[in-house]
Amino acid sequence: MLVADRIPPHLILVKLAAAAVVLTFFGVSDVLGATVPKASPRGACDALADARCCKWLNIAEDLQANLFEHSCDEDALEAIRLAFHDGIGRSRAMEWNQTFWGGADGSILKFSDIELAYPENHAVDDIVHALKPFAEAHAVGYGDLVQFAAAVGTSNCPGAPRLRFLAGRRDALTAAPASLVPSPAAPASDILLRMHDAGFTSDDLVALLAAHSVGRQRTLDPTAGGLPLDSTPEAFDTQFYLDVLLAGTRFPGNGSHYGEARSPLETQFRLISDAEVARHPLTACAWQSFINRQDKMMDAFRDAMLKLSVNGQDLARLVDCSEVIPPAPLQYWTKPIAYPPGTGPADVDRTCFDAPFPSLSASSRNS
Ligand code: HEM
Ligand SMILES: *[C@@H]1O[C@H](CO)[C@@H](O)[C@H](O)[C@H]1NC(C)=O
Ligand SMILES: *[C@@H]1O[C@H](CO)[C@@H](O)[C@H](O)[C@H]1NC(C)=O
Repeated sequence: MLVADRIPPHLILVKLAAAAVVLTFFGVSDVLGATVPKASPRGACDALADARCCKWLNIAEDLQANLFEHSCDEDALEAIRLAFHDGIGRSRAMEWNQTFWGGADGSILKFSDIELAYPENHAVDDIVHALKPFAEAHAVGYGDLVQFAAAVGTSNCPGAPRLRFLAGRRDALTAAPASLVPSPAAPASDILLRMHDAGFTSDDLVALLAAHSVGRQRTLDPTAGGLPLDSTPEAFDTQFYLDVLLAGTRFPGNGSHYGEARSPLETQFRLISDAEVARHPLTACAWQSFINRQDKMMDAFRDAMLKLSVNGQDLARLVDCSEVIPPAPLQYWTKPIAYPPGTGPADVDRTCFDAPFPSLSASSRNS
């Protein structure tokens, strides 16, 4: 992928044209990690309500076959995270004084040399380099591709809602300035201000953080690479909202690191930002309300992701291609969540008293 970045754009086109010729003879489908666009199966396209969405069927197939491999693993997770790091790049204060317009505009791909230098974007460099060739090969905008890849990636995660996808974003004219992506070391008050400036409510933030239910940290403590952010990283479920409320007792892996809070379990990594948002007076009750309420969480995440995915864009220009997004597998979501082994109700740091704390089983899902 790094190689593709160094090839001047006109040479990529030559390569793609050459590959397209090869394709017609041999049916070969891999160029620079992305396939050359080919006509969709006529039937699949005809079945779409809007023919303008047809090309996105090919792109979904290409991403699944050549990047995600139909899994909810590192590439899909980084793609979901990238949708946030692109979409959050908007500031209403800067729109007000007319210094910057941004949002879900693909600036993190288009101006990757600038935005990947920001510390909060260091862990999304691989997915940025991996996605660019797909945009070139299929001749779609960066802003569209970032949000589309997140929606397709999410569809690989058991328990996730089926995200919507609108196509036709205007791509970025400038890079997003530094400090628009929240830091994992930030207090909740800073994060809430940043979210508000970017166009989001405190409820939106709590809903968006459901993504951490399948997330892992790979860079804050490299010696504990891959430690999940909740005890059921295989499921897009509400376990995350319970786990983050359990009293933190230790730093798993190699000591304390930037952005790391004490975790209740040796097998789990807790971000300071998650711990803070779970306990802040403006967010604690929304946070608690998702525990063991899979359907409520799914609806809220789907709606907040739609808002994120069109942040700063003119809705009237966009075409609804949601029908192209596959539904996610549901196998985990009917399972009630439970206290992880060794923990129980006495370990909950309660900060919301507006509603009773949900009653949960003490057994682990694996026992
Ligand atoms: C306050 C806001 C947030 C902060 C401070 C934050 C911070 C982080 C950090 C530090 C990591 C670990 C990165 C690594 O070491 O590899 C992470 C992982 C992740 N984040 Fe967030 N995040 C926030 C919100 C979000 C949102 C809104 C989404 C998506 C909607 C998201 C999606 C993810 C995903 C999917 C991962 C896992 C990536 C992987 O497994 O490779 N995050 N986040
Ligand atoms: C515009 O607003 C931003 C955010 O409040 C501020 O950082 C920046 O200095 C302002 N720029 C001008 C030219 O007023
Ligand atoms: C923790 O990691 C740092 C940097 O990676 C290293 O210098 C240090 O020796 C490690 N400590 C332990 C206890 O493994």
